Amino acid sequence: MKNILVTGGLGFIGSHTVVELHHRGYNPIIVDNLSNSQEEVLNRLKKITGTQFTFLNIDLVDFDKTRQIFSDQIIDGVIHFAAYKAVGESVEKPLDYYENNLGSLINLLKLSQEFRVSNFIFSSSCTVYGQPDRLPVDESFPKLPAESPYGKTKQVCEEIIEDYCKSNPDFKAISLRYFNPTGAHESALIGELPLGIPNNLVPFITQTAAGIREKLNVFGGDYNTPDGTCIRDYIHVVDLANAHIAALEHAEKMDTNYDMFNVGTGKGNSVLEVIQSFEKVTGISLNYEIVDRRPGDIEKIYADTKKVNSILGWKAERDLDNMMKTAWEWQKSLSIKE
Ligand code: UD1
Repeated sequence: MKNILVTGGLGFIGSHTVVELHHRGYNPIIVDNLSNSQEEVLNRLKKITGTQFTFLNIDLVDFDKTRQIFSDQIIDGVIHFAAYKAVGESVEKPLDYYENNLGSLINLLKLSQEFRVSNFIFSSSCTVYGQPDRLPVDESFPKLPAESPYGKTKQVCEEIIEDYCKSNPDFKAISLRYFNPTGAHESALIGELPLGIPNNLVPFITQTAAGIREKLNVFGGDYNTPDGTCIRDYIHVVDLANAHIAALEHAEKMDTNYDMFNVGTGKGNSVLEVIQSFEKVTGISLNYEIVDRRPGDIEKIYADTKKVNSILGWKAERDLDNMMKTAWEWQKSLSIKE
């Protein structure tokens, strides 16, 4: 059984990936410093899989402690999720973002070199494209100047990995550029757990429907889109989790040693379409209002998925209704606990 180090393995995408890795016969080793996650997720993972995973509460910026992981465990591959990811916060605290997101990556690459771990999957983002001049966006599009330090860390991390790959032909790395991950595991035992007021659309919708927030502000109704609201490519987190396994399998056999893939559905939906889907599957009428645009938002983006479909053999299977349904089941399970 192959051991896969999953950094940020108790977070939203990390925890769903741990479940799918387990189902596919891998042994995930979870590293997480609980900066934006809870240890309770480990118990939930056990409920879903019947397995107690190894969990290490370690900050990857600490080189010596991270080195200890590599010397204690046999590691066959790394999936690196752990990172700060709040766009607005990154503008307030750029140094924290650079230190954490770049520092942890550099430590992991150094240790992969020292311990001869050769398969590496990196969590990147469609934010690297900025607002592309035509759609859908494919992997050959240029990276436009980032709007935030967060976005810049994703661009720079991709470049660090690419440079490292050039210097070490035995190292195989893949960056996955996620579009907008949402939804939750069908068991409703794991999902997105935003601390404080959510920045992202779907947690804000579900919290509004649950009565935790009074009203959803829809940021901008005057964009150049059919209904005036922004368009994104929403992707179910379980589909996204499975893309990591396809990437791991591909990394082992690919001819080049670095590649990157879009991970989306290829379909764009507006904010109002997301709300309509939520209302349809839950029967709840959502309290929302169209307000001013949010600074820094791009108008529309969705993925060209040809490369990921053909080379990784991966395709999104779950639709927007399924994302809304599972996100709502997850939100309800939280309310019951409270
Ligand atoms: C942003 C980042 C993305 C990052 C992701 C993770 C950019 C361009 N994108 O995605 O890189 O990976 O966050 O956190 O920086 N909306 C509302 N009301 C709300 C919240 C959101 O109308 O209360 C709208 C937004 O204006 C946007 C859409 O919903 O049109 C999606 O927003 P959000 O979920 O925040 O994701 P992005 O901004 O696309």
